[in-house]
Amino acid sequence: MNFIQTAWRAIWLAAVCVAAGCARQAVEPAPAHPLVWDAMKKSASPKFEDGMARFEFHVTNTSKYPVKIWQIRASCGCTTWEAPRMPWTLAPGEKGTVKGIVDFRGKEGEIAKDLLISTVEGYQTLMMVIQVPLMDPAMRAQNQVLAAANRQAVFQGECAVCHAVPAESRFGPDLFEAVCGVCHQAKHQASMVPDLNVAKEQRDAAWWTRWVEEGREGTLMPGFAKKRGGPLDDSQVESLVEYLVATFPKEPKKN
Ligand code: HEC
Ligand code: HEC
Repeated sequence: MNFIQTAWRAIWLAAVCVAAGCARQAVEPAPAHPLVWDAMKKSASPKFEDGMARFEFHVTNTSKYPVKIWQIRASCGCTTWEAPRMPWTLAPGEKGTVKGIVDFRGKEGEIAKDLLISTVEGYQTLMMVIQVPLMDPAMRAQNQVLAAANRQAVFQGECAVCHAVPAESRFGPDLFEAVCGVCHQAKHQASMVPDLNVAKEQRDAAWWTRWVEEGREGTLMPGFAKKRGGPLDDSQVESLVEYLVATFPKEPKKN
């Protein structure tokens, strides 16, 4: 009885669906988007020192009616965009430009970032692909010499762009990636930079705090505390230490 009822219900629903055009809708291709871009994906191979890659996407409203871009969103905090004020209405045939700017400092290899364009007619995704180059070996060697003479030099002058400024308004894991990862998680990590995943001794919050705040005299490890000339205030240090204690091994591996 139950089975027959269920079967009838299924047949009834299928009939309603056909009448309403469900099947037809499923096979019709989606209409073309009225906004046509010169490319949906662009690539760049900037120089290491540039720190940022800039892109321009040119758009045309190919429809006979005005189209409104309500919002543009970037896929990452490292990406910003420039365009006319939102909502931005393009008249029929009107052209316009959206600029995308990707900050690739601290990133390595090929990276891809998106701009998401929202209109009533649907989302469009503009992709920016960047080949992030390695630092020139001569520059790297020179930086190491400067840091050997004064390990706090990384927070000063031009060095600050990559070693201090990225700390601004960051906490916890985000902060680690911005200011510690640059040395400790570089793919081609320098030989004098230790792997933090290997514990050589007991490591508690006090141990991590000392390393972060003071670093070590006579090495390339700088002191990050504001009172040492570093970029981090007390609450940033606290957030970082909480993350480090929770994430990395607390004692040496026993065999
Ligand atoms: C454009 C970004 C950028 C600037 C500017 C910069 N660095 Fe670095 N630094 C890095 C990166 C990235 C690494 C990680 C190693 C790598 O990828 O080559 C690094 C690593 C280091 C290291 C660790 C040793 C090593 O070679 O890995 C030291 C020391 C250092 N930098 C010092 C400095 C000093 C001193 C300056 C200023 C004279 C400076 N850096 C300027 C990006 C930068
Ligand atoms: C400019 C490159 C550089 C940056 C940036 C850097 N470190 Fe270091 N770090 C080093 C070097 C070099 C050493 C090795 C010091 C030594 O020889 O004792 C080191 C050592 C350490 C050690 C000791 C590891 C051990 O097992 O003895 C800890 C912990 C540490 N760093 C944490 C951090 C944290 C956390 C950050 C971010 C707040 C950071 N480092 C940023 C270069 C760097």
